[in-house]
Amino acid sequence: MDKFRTICKGFFQIKNLEHVSRKALTLILIIAIASATVIYYHTDKVTDVSLHRYNMEEKIIKHRKSEHKNSEEKTSKTLEFFAESTPIHTATLSKASPRAERATADLKRVKDVCEKYKGTEYDEAPANVGHWHSSVDDEHKLIYYYIPKTGCTLWKAIFGILTNQSNETDAANITPYDIHFRMKYTNLYGLTPEERNRKLSSYFVFVVVRHPFERLVSGYMNKLGEPGEPYFQNTYGAPIIEKYRFGATPEEIKSGKPTFSEFINYLTDPEMVRTYNIDSHWAQYYKLSHPCFVRFDYIVRFEHMKEDTQHILELKNLTNLVEFTYKEPKTSNEKLKEYMQQLTINQIYKLYEAYKFDFELFGYDFDIRSYI
Ligand SMILES: *[C@@H]1O[C@H](CO)[C@@H](O)[C@H](O)[C@H]1NC(C)=O
Ligand SMILES: *[C@@H]1O[C@H](CO)[C@@H](O)[C@H](O)[C@H]1NC(C)=O
Ligand SMILES: *[C@@H]1O[C@H](CO)[C@@H](O)[C@H](O)[C@H]1NC(C)=O
Repeated sequence: MDKFRTICKGFFQIKNLEHVSRKALTLILIIAIASATVIYYHTDKVTDVSLHRYNMEEKIIKHRKSEHKNSEEKTSKTLEFFAESTPIHTATLSKASPRAERATADLKRVKDVCEKYKGTEYDEAPANVGHWHSSVDDEHKLIYYYIPKTGCTLWKAIFGILTNQSNETDAANITPYDIHFRMKYTNLYGLTPEERNRKLSSYFVFVVVRHPFERLVSGYMNKLGEPGEPYFQNTYGAPIIEKYRFGATPEEIKSGKPTFSEFINYLTDPEMVRTYNIDSHWAQYYKLSHPCFVRFDYIVRFEHMKEDTQHILELKNLTNLVEFTYKEPKTSNEKLKEYMQQLTINQIYKLYEAYKFDFELFGYDFDIRSYI
């Protein structure tokens, strides 16, 4: 007993331990060791930021950081500019129709949610590199912020037609190869802040979004699960297994196919939630399109892709240039449920927390009961 007390005295640097019972001391020791373990594990997790980087995105981030340093003043000017500008295009949506009413409500909600989160961690001005994910059509004055896995193939094809890069008039006839590898899209990234602001304030600006969890399931299946792509499995899958699977064998790591649950542990790792250094296939929408800093004229929803796209073509008088035969995607509600059920309730809540801003900005509801 006395030896034990001496050890504890040394350990806690406390002089009067005589009146503390052995049980209490044991408890304190256990708590101390457990806390140390948790802190060690956590620190290990958050300092390991070299994890899984997408080559191109790494370059962008590097650039973004140096650019951010050099142009903090410019960036905050951009911010002011958007805060003060009045939405000039919303008037074109006021034609009374349920579709137009919803489009107006979408814009109002984005504005309200941005207001609500002003001054919080989400209120961070995008550096110039944030405009990488934009596509510009100067002739028709359109700017499209594209987000992977939200049906960007259709709108990229339309931009290809509008910029005379195809003789087709039906977007559905353009091959994915042409869309993703042959056609060139100009973005806002390389422009001076003045030029970028000029275009953003006078063009019709829109983004396409989708239920955030559905997009994650789609991205997971497509890049990491089945079928998966070797590049993504090597770059992200293998390190995810190595980090989040206890006792993973070298063969398992090499497979590059993490479970959905491991993928979610990666996405909800505190380091991943905040960083902009996250692959664009699962980066939050606000990190790719900056809805609080760019004044959008239209929020297209994947769930209403056909009617929203038609609506924009009509608003911009482009229906004589572009047609599109749209195949409704198979409803992925069942898939969503199947994958979400592989998660614990705690994981689902953490995932929601990580994507909560997107849910609110774009009006998607979260109800835990629909996933359990
Ligand atoms: C595309 O072609 C049309 C019709 O020939 C022409 O009016 C338009 O200026 C062209 N646009 C560009 C960006 O070259
Ligand atoms: C469109 O058709 C013209 C005439 O046939 C051809 O010269 C041009 O290369 C075609 N453009 C594209 C982008 O295929
Ligand atoms: C729409 O486009 C057509 C043909 O390109 C043109 O004749 C017409 O004036 C345009 N309408 C408006 C309102 O711009």
